[in-house]
Amino acid sequence: MKEKTVSESKTIMTEMIMPNDTNPLGNLMGGNLMRWMDIAAGVCAAKHAEAHVVTASVDHVSFQSAIRLGNVITITAVMTKAFSSSMEVYVEVTVAEITGANPRKSNHAYFTFVAVDQENQKPIKVPQLRAVSSEELDRQEGANRRREIRLILSGRIQPSEAKEVKDFFSKF
Ligand SMILES: CC(C)(COP(=O)(O)OP(=O)(O)OC[C@H]1O[C@@H](n2cnc3c(N)ncnc32)[C@H](O)[C@@H]1OP(=O)(O)O)[C@@H](O)C(=O)NCCC(=O)NCCS
Repeated sequence: MKEKTVSESKTIMTEMIMPNDTNPLGNLMGGNLMRWMDIAAGVCAAKHAEAHVVTASVDHVSFQSAIRLGNVITITAVMTKAFSSSMEVYVEVTVAEITGANPRKSNHAYFTFVAVDQENQKPIKVPQLRAVSSEELDRQEGANRRREIRLILSGRIQPSEAKEVKDFFSKF
């Protein structure tokens, strides 16, 4: 299977915050933002895998700055690492006024998707990812460790099996 670059699947999504997206204070509901992040990340993973994908896990999401009615958000999703059938996708959200004024980062998260075959919905292999730029290599660094942590938290491996995590913490 031919390896692919990060730019081949990079996905950018823009939304304007409408009244139906907000809570009674006029702020974007967190759940709506997570839904859009899931869509952008899922499109990115599916483009990389050239297959259907399912969300396997979403890492910690914290909301740093409120997104207001009428703001415009940009959601950027990029592949950080392809494993066997699973893929880690980094999603970053920025927010600005409709005029483009006051641009700022709102939040980020890592999503994990698994490529599945359409008929049986069973995991299938995905192409490997070639990180090229220093930014892409930085994002890839730590992907094995993050994977081990989420597999521990989902009860799929024992902490004693998490070699990368152990090596990392033994440095301190
Ligand atoms: C994700 C899913 C396809 C995994 O299927 P499975 O039969 O358990 O497959 P496996 O044990 O072979 O795992 C397949 C891959 O998923 C990864 N995976 C499974 N659960 C994971 C989790 N919680 N976090 C991160 N990765 C996970 C495994 O590490 C493995 O990755 P690899 O192939 O790159 O090594 C299956 O659990 C599923 O369909 N879940 C529901 C997905 C869904 O409906 N999402 C939307 C929720 S609303």
